Amino acid sequence: MNIVDDHRLLLSGREYVPIVIGGMGVNISVDRLVLEACRLGGIGHISDAMGGHVADQKFGTKFTKIKAARHRASRDSLDKSAVKFDPQEIYQAQLLLVEDVMGRKTGDGAIFINIMEKLTMGASADTLRARVTAALDGGIDGITLSAGLHTNTLKLIADHPRFRDASIGIIVSSVRALKIFLRGAARVDRLPDYVIVEGPLAGGHLGFGEDWREYDLATIVSDVLRYFESESLAIPVIPAGGIFTGTDAAEFLGRGAAAVQLATRFTVTRESGLPDKVKQIYFGADEDDVIVSSMSATGYPLRMLTSSPCRHSNVKPQCEPFGYTLSKTGTCLYLDAYDAVPVDERGQKLEVRDKMCLCYHFSKYNCYTCGHYVYRLKDTTRRAADGSYELLSAEHVFRDYQFSRDHEIRLPDAAGEPAEKVPAV
Ligand SMILES: Cc1cc2nc3c(=O)[nH]c(=O)nc-3n(C[C@H](O)[C@H](O)[C@H](O)COP(=O)(O)O)c2cc1C
Repeated sequence: MNIVDDHRLLLSGREYVPIVIGGMGVNISVDRLVLEACRLGGIGHISDAMGGHVADQKFGTKFTKIKAARHRASRDSLDKSAVKFDPQEIYQAQLLLVEDVMGRKTGDGAIFINIMEKLTMGASADTLRARVTAALDGGIDGITLSAGLHTNTLKLIADHPRFRDASIGIIVSSVRALKIFLRGAARVDRLPDYVIVEGPLAGGHLGFGEDWREYDLATIVSDVLRYFESESLAIPVIPAGGIFTGTDAAEFLGRGAAAVQLATRFTVTRESGLPDKVKQIYFGADEDDVIVSSMSATGYPLRMLTSSPCRHSNVKPQCEPFGYTLSKTGTCLYLDAYDAVPVDERGQKLEVRDKMCLCYHFSKYNCYTCGHYVYRLKDTTRRAADGSYELLSAEHVFRDYQFSRDHEIRLPDAAGEPAEKVPAV
């Protein structure tokens, strides 16, 4: 029988357990989670979403406060055209985060960073260049370009000394998007080292429209594999989205995928950055609680739980401290939606139904974004007498994917640890 451990991912001349933990922003795929993936021989992604804020939480820096003070003047106005990031500060925050995690790496795996193009940050190219350059300078093993077509991202860093030495890949949801990226890659003579194909059941933002139900991951993966074959391109393909059991993963590997990218099952591990209270909400979720919403200020659909506090909010736009989704002219879909909402008799804004302030709500873990199968998490653990679900270790979930057969999901033993310790690869 085909299990995940029968396979290895060959990437940039190295061999890995073919398990990749996807980037989960903001601050969910944190250092301790990705360090575990690396120790166990796989690949873990930190996320670079809201890097200044994350660095402040972790290192006590003051990037957010300094930026808010610099732009105090526009706090009570909806004209945010003057709100800008200082690329030097972005660079410093990112460098701190990356150097810190890379300095603590153990095992034979790797640590990558997920970089979202859709975080336009008031000056898309300059801020993106600062983020990617800092990641490379900080020694990151690989960069996964996500949430966007990234037509020019490679060009921004083409003169970096590590441009050809770090692994670079992209997340796409169609052969069409892949071809657009490859045209840009050809211009700098730098093919991606891997391609992650994300289907419609993934967590976070989706690369599909409202018709996401009409697509399925297996079909898109075989389209991409066929396209690479027709072009004689030997680029590893990594499916993501709704791969819930080790057997689901092994089936993709058996059909030509090089590895799998996973996220939802790791959200409820002890190492995940979600607050414990939110982990319990993920465990308790039912299928009816999961929606694909158009509330994200990025314009992409976002999968989340209906109980997410961001859904009934009238929070003032937080562009001065944050401003991660501002365009270069200072617009944001949330600013427009906030402006359009009337005030009550006390002058308070009513609920902004159509959009959310992504910056504020993600910084507070108020958006419970999750993969479609979040409602199956309750079947992956034990429940205590008080009704709470036992958190899992990242090692337990990783090993379960690696060694599972027949779609079986191994529960933790009573102490919450894997029943038998399997040696690290
Ligand atoms: C809580 C959560 C947050 C996520 N955040 C991001 C993100 O910031 N950037 C990104 O490219 N993908 C993000 N994703 C998508 C994952 O990296 C991954 O590709 C996908 O969810 C895998 O499917 P699965 O969750 O069904 O295993 C997120 C997923 C989850 C569950």
